[in-house]
Amino acid sequence: MENLVWVEISKEALKSNVKTFRSLVGESTILCPCVKANAYGHGLIETSKIFLESGANWLAVNALYEARTLRESGITAPIYVLGYIALSDLAEVLNLDLRIVVYNKETILRLGELSKKSGKKAKIHIKIETGNNRQGVLKEEIVDFVKYVLSFENLEIEGLSTHFANIEDTKDHSYAENQLKKFNKIAAMVENLGVKVPFKHSANSAATLLFPETHFEMVRPGIATYGMWPSDETFLSFSSERDVKISLSPALSWKTKIAQIKTVPSGELIGYGCTYKTTRESKIAILPVGYYDGYDRGIANPHVLIHGKRAAQRGRVCMNIIMVDVTDIPEASLEDEVVLIGRDGDETISAEQFAKWAWTINYEITTRINDRIPRIYV
Ligand SMILES: Cc1ncc(COP(=O)(O)O)c(C=O)c1O
Repeated sequence: MENLVWVEISKEALKSNVKTFRSLVGESTILCPCVKANAYGHGLIETSKIFLESGANWLAVNALYEARTLRESGITAPIYVLGYIALSDLAEVLNLDLRIVVYNKETILRLGELSKKSGKKAKIHIKIETGNNRQGVLKEEIVDFVKYVLSFENLEIEGLSTHFANIEDTKDHSYAENQLKKFNKIAAMVENLGVKVPFKHSANSAATLLFPETHFEMVRPGIATYGMWPSDETFLSFSSERDVKISLSPALSWKTKIAQIKTVPSGELIGYGCTYKTTRESKIAILPVGYYDGYDRGIANPHVLIHGKRAAQRGRVCMNIIMVDVTDIPEASLEDEVVLIGRDGDETISAEQFAKWAWTINYEITTRINDRIPRIYV
């Protein structure tokens, strides 16, 4: 069956980004790209395989079902689960040989009992609260927490982790520096208990790019491994503060096809709510993509690319349809390819441009492209 809406993923771009990250972190640091949220919209299984083939060591997912999907696809590489796992699901962590982040004593107790019963070691990474105030164990609680873990013989503290709260939204990195100081202090408290922790980790994309001192034994970059900068501020900080040069390659293009072209007289209203009125006789192309697919309904004055030219979107985004003005693209015809995100001739619509139209961030744009839409690896 013909695809009417699809996402193209450049394998070369993904490979090149992994190589770039390897060059930034060196050979001995574990490179653990985040493939949660359907690999930021790029397709969980295929993207994970491409990352591993290109030199990534581990994979990070958010949820148990994502880890299970990867194992079922035959991936045997270490998988680290960043999100919460229900107490009743913890047995699967041992069965699938996963590493998980922990920050609740209830999780420790249940996992401790399960690992004792099964004789399988459970590898845990303790999340340390340093200023994000979401997951994490407080400094005041860490000694007691670690002692509790040590009371279970089959629980192995494989990692200590934290996550930066304010590293990509700003060029002032003092908050992140403070978090890093706290992390180092709390890690020392843990090590003073006689615990040798193989993997400390803190770095998302921005930290990996900007601050080598955040790399420790492992990095967990997400957005930049897909070729997108975490923010303009990260790009500017990198360009002005680091003496290395890199280029990231955006891997994702989002495409559709023209489903109808019609001539609409001047003064006609287009779409729900009659929000757009034509000011000339217009050729309007109907595209079979809408907010169900992830094309944001709140988007302001976007355009798409057809034959390398911009076509402005008209009227409201519908559930399954948008309308665009092709009056100045006379060559446009039925089933011609339309670029929603990506390059066409000399024109490009980046995920960042799309995010600005939608008052959000590139992360949200690519992760919200409906999982049902086929991903084609080119
Ligand atoms: C705990 C954790 N680590 C790493 C990442 C990757 O972040 P980024 O995509 O900014 O590199 C995320 C993303 O949300 C995260 O939640």
